[in-house]
Amino acid sequence: MRTVTQDTITEAFLATCSKEVDPRLRFILEQLANHLHQFAIKTGLTHEEWRKGISLLRKAGEISDDERDEFVLLSDVLGLSSLIDMINSAPDGTSSSVLGPFHILGAPALPVGGDLKRDNEGATVVIAGQVRDADGNPVRGAAMEIWQTADNGLYSNQDPTQPDYNLRARMTLGDDGRYALTTVRPAPYTVPTDGPVGELLHGMGRHPWRPSHLHFIITAPGYRSLVTELFPDDDPYLDEDAVFGVREDLIMEYREQKPGDPLPEGLEAADRLTDPYYRVDFDFVLVPEG
Ligand code: BEZ
Ligand code: FE
Repeated sequence: MRTVTQDTITEAFLATCSKEVDPRLRFILEQLANHLHQFAIKTGLTHEEWRKGISLLRKAGEISDDERDEFVLLSDVLGLSSLIDMINSAPDGTSSSVLGPFHILGAPALPVGGDLKRDNEGATVVIAGQVRDADGNPVRGAAMEIWQTADNGLYSNQDPTQPDYNLRARMTLGDDGRYALTTVRPAPYTVPTDGPVGELLHGMGRHPWRPSHLHFIITAPGYRSLVTELFPDDDPYLDEDAVFGVREDLIMEYREQKPGDPLPEGLEAADRLTDPYYRVDFDFVLVPEG
């Protein structure tokens, strides 16, 4: 196509794509070009506005490194990451939710019933439940990874005062799919605001807070891996998560308990629960692979 117009530019772009290209890639590019071109047309995008957008992307590249990915954060605050979670969540299983940038590999093993809280300050939480399938049967061979902030709202890899791998663990579950642990109640925190995403939030008049949450990755042979988070029902940011990660089925109650109340079997910290604490019960539902 020698000359293009607003009406033919999408078609002209698609004509550049070889017929040999993978059909899925071609479809994605077709949709991308279509929506991008329509976005510019419908907004009547000016050169100055286009330059601002490009500058945001350039700054995102400049501030990103092996430990920080500003593009993922941009996707998070735009709601794209959560939308992709929702599109790909199994309808019969526990909803998935954002992985976030603070997951690290190599968390130490914790036995079922283990104490993750150890010397951490803050309210004690006993969390227990089962990894099961949609029919209620235990999932065999499951492994659970958990990570969270300390009481100060920081992850161990953001806070030099915390020991390496503080409040991070990997638990191998038995054939009954049961898990239990003692931990500390996490705190709400803000997403990083010192880069272009912070500028964007500020420009939109938005706050950067996330409700407090516990992160999980649950895997089991023959089942789809689940990346998710659990949120307390009384968190002040539950209805305004900066990254849109909250789903109805991921909200749970922190029930106030007193010493002597029934505990999950074999809880390592049972003898140390001499003050009031919280109890959370939650079952994770996995769906078969494929
Ligand atoms: C987090 O939950 O750790 C997180 C998720 C998205 C952006 C920033 C932090
Ligand atoms: Fe988080």
